[in-house]
Amino acid sequence: MSSLRRTEIASLLKEATVNDEVLVKGWVRAFRANRFIALNDGSSFGNVQVVVDFENFDEALLKQISFHSCIEVKGTVVESQGSGQNIEIVAKEIVILGGSNPDEYSLQPKKQTLEYLREKAQFRMRTNTFSAVFRIRHAISFAIHKFYNDNGYYHMHTPIITGSDAEGAGEMFHVTSFSPDTAPRDETGKVDYKQDFFGKETNLTVSGQLQAEMGALALGKVYTFGPTFRAEKSNTSRHLAEFWMIEPEVAFNDINDNMDLAESFSKYLINYILDNYAEDLAFLEKRILDAEKQLPKEKRREMPLIETLRFVVDNDFERITYTDAINLLRNSKPYKKGRFENDVAWGKDLQSEHERWLVEKKFKKPVIVVDYPKDIKAFYMRSNEDDKTVAAMDVLFPGIGEVMGGSQREERHDMLVKRMNEMDVSTEELDWYLDLRKFGGCPHSGFGMGFERMVMFITGMSNIRDVIPFPRTPGSAEF
Ligand code: 4AD
Ligand code: MG
Repeated sequence: MSSLRRTEIASLLKEATVNDEVLVKGWVRAFRANRFIALNDGSSFGNVQVVVDFENFDEALLKQISFHSCIEVKGTVVESQGSGQNIEIVAKEIVILGGSNPDEYSLQPKKQTLEYLREKAQFRMRTNTFSAVFRIRHAISFAIHKFYNDNGYYHMHTPIITGSDAEGAGEMFHVTSFSPDTAPRDETGKVDYKQDFFGKETNLTVSGQLQAEMGALALGKVYTFGPTFRAEKSNTSRHLAEFWMIEPEVAFNDINDNMDLAESFSKYLINYILDNYAEDLAFLEKRILDAEKQLPKEKRREMPLIETLRFVVDNDFERITYTDAINLLRNSKPYKKGRFENDVAWGKDLQSEHERWLVEKKFKKPVIVVDYPKDIKAFYMRSNEDDKTVAAMDVLFPGIGEVMGGSQREERHDMLVKRMNEMDVSTEELDWYLDLRKFGGCPHSGFGMGFERMVMFITGMSNIRDVIPFPRTPGSAEF
């Protein structure tokens, strides 16, 4: 084809004027009446319509144009005759870059279920829904870096292979260069990791927090944004075995500053998408409304997607203590009528059904619960005066539950050692962590945001597998 340079469809739709000669490339989303091609190249939600006068083209060529084939079109921009778009392209030359045989192609041009599309990762990103979701996923990631950069934080890369178990939960994937059958063993018959690649037992990280604390006590304000791995067998719509987490860690912040940061950070992300991805959001909102038509009223969203996002950015998050949350729950209708599956009692962790009641029924907005019992939280959280609770916080969102979890860290050396001993965390292995309390320690705080949970909230997708390109869940590591 000629030396004409390719125009991306996003800029074409924004900037092209009538009579421009243009070259576009993309995938066929539809070919109607042997005359109208909807072409999309991923640069925007919108397609450009290509008008084909079949008498000007070879029939054999036109036959090769079908759903999802990839083509290159040279043509003239004209004012659109149809509704829904301002301009379209009248094709002069068409080249097939990649054909797509409609007889063999397993994805038909009709509405597919999200579950089916999950098995077709090679095609699912070409659908309207998933291209919108993954554009927004990118944009949230960008906005995260922008927020922290603009606020003077430093991005820190923490290790993916680690020797420590930050959360003390033990649900980790082992990393070894041994093969299970031939791993060397010591006198007691146990695998001898001293001979392994790192000379010790290692795992995939569950969190970069402990290392981020080193950064905070040197650079003041840092954040991590990396993959984390959990081998918990939670086969739910909110859990992945491989997910991404953002962990800010800030010197001199107490738990109240930490709550302020969590609130302003999440509002910033939502605002960024409202301001810059209106077209994708509008499509996702309509998709949900259509899907919900088949559901009974009580199963539908209380508010459409965009209204929900606006509501969250326009209102203060509710802040309550764990103790108050327990009292509210014990006085709630579902508790009194025995409708909760899990018991509510001081000292027990809140289950997702309880969190959702607080957020969706009681306050109808995000809720930050603080001051949890120390026995259900990690060793590094700062003990409160009452000696029963710690300065921990969970941020709960409608429809999702916990999106962020964090705490003020225990900066008092003796208190930290005491907690580690009580909770059976090795002070030897974490001597470097204790050093941060011995040499220039200070009050500091941070939290972790589950990236995919935030993407779920903003896109309105109800299964976490549908907001990550390649989900890893128990029993599934496809693609
Ligand atoms: O509450 P978590 O376990 O907190 C930590 O890991 C702390 N070290 C964070 C910190 O203080 N720096 O995890 C943080 C968030 C949760 O609130 C949740 O949103 C998300 O990570 N998360 C998951 N997301 C998807 N799949 C899973 N299996 C997740 N587990 C936690
Ligand atoms: Mg948590």
